[in-house]
Amino acid sequence: MRFKGKKYSGKRSKKTVVLVTGASTGLGLACVKELQQRKDIHVIATARKNSLSRFESSGVQGSENLWIRSMDVLSKRERDQVLEEAREKLGGIDVLINNAGYCLRAVVEQVNETERLQQIDTNFRAPLALIRGVLPEMREKREGLIINVSSVGGMMAMPTMSIYSASKFALEGATEALWYEVKPWNIKVTLVEPGFINSGAFRKVKLTKESERSFKDRNDPYHFHYKFMADFIAKFMRKTPATTDKVAKKIVRLIDQKSPPLRVMATPDAILFDLLRRFLPRRFYHWVLYHMLPKVRFWGDVWIPAENSFYGEYEDDRENSRFSEFKSDQKINV
Ligand SMILES: NC(=O)c1ccc[n+]([C@@H]2O[C@H](COP(=O)([O-])OP(=O)(O)OC[C@H]3O[C@@H](n4cnc5c(N)ncnc54)[C@H](OP(=O)(O)O)[C@@H]3O)[C@@H](O)[C@H]2O)c1
Repeated sequence: MRFKGKKYSGKRSKKTVVLVTGASTGLGLACVKELQQRKDIHVIATARKNSLSRFESSGVQGSENLWIRSMDVLSKRERDQVLEEAREKLGGIDVLINNAGYCLRAVVEQVNETERLQQIDTNFRAPLALIRGVLPEMREKREGLIINVSSVGGMMAMPTMSIYSASKFALEGATEALWYEVKPWNIKVTLVEPGFINSGAFRKVKLTKESERSFKDRNDPYHFHYKFMADFIAKFMRKTPATTDKVAKKIVRLIDQKSPPLRVMATPDAILFDLLRRFLPRRFYHWVLYHMLPKVRFWGDVWIPAENSFYGEYEDDRENSRFSEFKSDQKINV
């Protein structure tokens, strides 16, 4: 006979209590809108203090079943306050959706320590801190669901997003370990991996001090890395059929599943990249991806305006033709 442990003795809300982080916009907001339609769910929508007003302007009103609370995921005090209130009044969190996050656009060489730590803290350490906060009660209740919003960037790294990928890889590693660790208590753990979503999120991508300078300086060695990657990502985000609403529906559906999978590829490109990664030989896979990078043959080039150059244009004919090809087909507006 298997020892199952003590029965949960605390207060218990009749509704499933779902906490969403970074919920005032984008995917988090779409999750809240989806969740608030459910009578069996109590939503705790959290956002940073300065973003709270966005709930009202997006048509989301706080109510008995929808709490709106201030939480900067980097603040221990604010995390503890929300968890404590949920514990006291609702018997704790049943479903944690770690959604808050941002993307830093910078190559490895152009991120300073503070920028690096903030990215890792927001996308990796804060979700883990929240998980540690909800697990004792989930273990006691012998049920619970933890959903960590990762990214395609958490299964494959993209140039100019080095630390973002590192943060999501770290989140994936810890989540995978967690899946094994808490299974004995019937706690489910899922990574949601969206690829490109048709949203304004690409406009909110943060630059580091150095990557911002490089973006503006056509003579910086990494200028074209940023220029072409940013255009490429913005184009894909505008064209993809994946929307925040569609991804939110997939996330909310996990709540009803008896055995949600460890990984959910949340957009069509995520499914494609997952297949490529699984079935192509590893060296070939990286070779293919490298050659798929936008205008990669120009990366590392520097801009030499004809009138300023002693040599007119590039000295080398081969370089010169590469450069003309670039000029004919790209507008540079920085
Ligand atoms: N959009 C995509 O194409 C895409 C693709 C793959 C993965 N993802 C992932 O999906 C999640 C949601 O992103 P999104 O697309 O919805 O982007 P978004 O519209 O920029 O939303 C991100 C949310 O995270 C919040 N946030 C950032 N730092 C925070 C902090 N310290 N404390 C609390 N909240 C914080 C933001 O709050 P503020 O408004 O206060 O800044 C915002 O509400 C992220 O984890 C992201 O990495 C998105």
